[in-house]
Amino acid sequence: MTHRPRRSVLYMPGSKERALEKAQSLPADALILDLEDAVAPAEKDAARDLVCDRVKAKPFGPREVIIRVNGADTPWGAADLEAATAAQPDAILLPKVNSAEDLAAARKIAGDIPLWAMMETPLGMLNAAEIGAAPGLTCMVMGTNDLVKELHAAHTPERLPLVTGLGLCLLAARAHGLAIIDGVYNAFKDEDGLRAACEQGRDMGFDGKTLIHPAQLAITNAVFAPSEEALEEARAQIAAFEEVERTGGGVAVVNGRIVENLHVENARRLLAEAEAIATLEAAAA
Ligand code: COA
Ligand code: MG
Repeated sequence: MTHRPRRSVLYMPGSKERALEKAQSLPADALILDLEDAVAPAEKDAARDLVCDRVKAKPFGPREVIIRVNGADTPWGAADLEAATAAQPDAILLPKVNSAEDLAAARKIAGDIPLWAMMETPLGMLNAAEIGAAPGLTCMVMGTNDLVKELHAAHTPERLPLVTGLGLCLLAARAHGLAIIDGVYNAFKDEDGLRAACEQGRDMGFDGKTLIHPAQLAITNAVFAPSEEALEEARAQIAAFEEVERTGGGVAVVNGRIVENLHVENARRLLAEAEAIATLEAAAA
């Protein structure tokens, strides 16, 4: 799959066998099997064994599988990274990445396994550009709970306190051709709040959203997929532009709006995205 959908990226505690089992049939595009903040210190070693055994057994079908390890500065970080590397997940997610050096250090152990970075510290925001350029990195994940805590900020519906950090990371990710996933929505029973947060993240440019509960999957998958209206417009734009091109022109008009080369590129991206989603959903069914 050249373009991998990452609309819904579901966290689960690596210590919870039931969640790992359930994940095998959930409609999540990607799964983050967590060894870090969702696992209590007393359970760290058992969670590492459980997660790595599961990943080696490959029961998750077409879902992308990511292991989130503990930080290198914790008692568990080194053992996590070594075990995760041996388990060969689709990617390893490093927490609290502050600099490109953090990624370089992990890469010495993880080798060719793609690295994902939690972007959740003030230093990480300020260094987003160099982090985005680091070899081996393929995806940024916003850690908005940690970021709010570190900033002494508040969780607000419109997320103004986070806009600078989100924007810096979006710029860095797009500048370097990386995927980028928005942070979690904590109130997992609040569907209207989740939908608004997904729409905001989608409109800012995120590929998808990290989730904490299966109840959040349906809304997130729907919001981050191109709508039928958007696909119809994309097809119309491509057709109109091709027609204009045949007569030597460079600008078409669809639904009262101009269509140039760049709009056609975007239209093709949307169609490819929809196709990748259909392929993934068929494979998961
Ligand atoms: N992934 C997979 N399955 C999950 C899940 C998750 N994140 N969260 C809940 N489930 C499962 C439960 O095992 C349960 O399955 P079952 O009823 O078939 O046995 C079902 O979904 C319903 O769960 P529910 O009872 O509503 O939730 P809970 O009270 O057990 O757990 C949370 C609520 C928030 C503690 C739990 O969802 C969770 O741990 N989420 C992930 C937290 C996390 O990973 N944080 C780190 C990053 S922020
Ligand atoms: Mg965090």
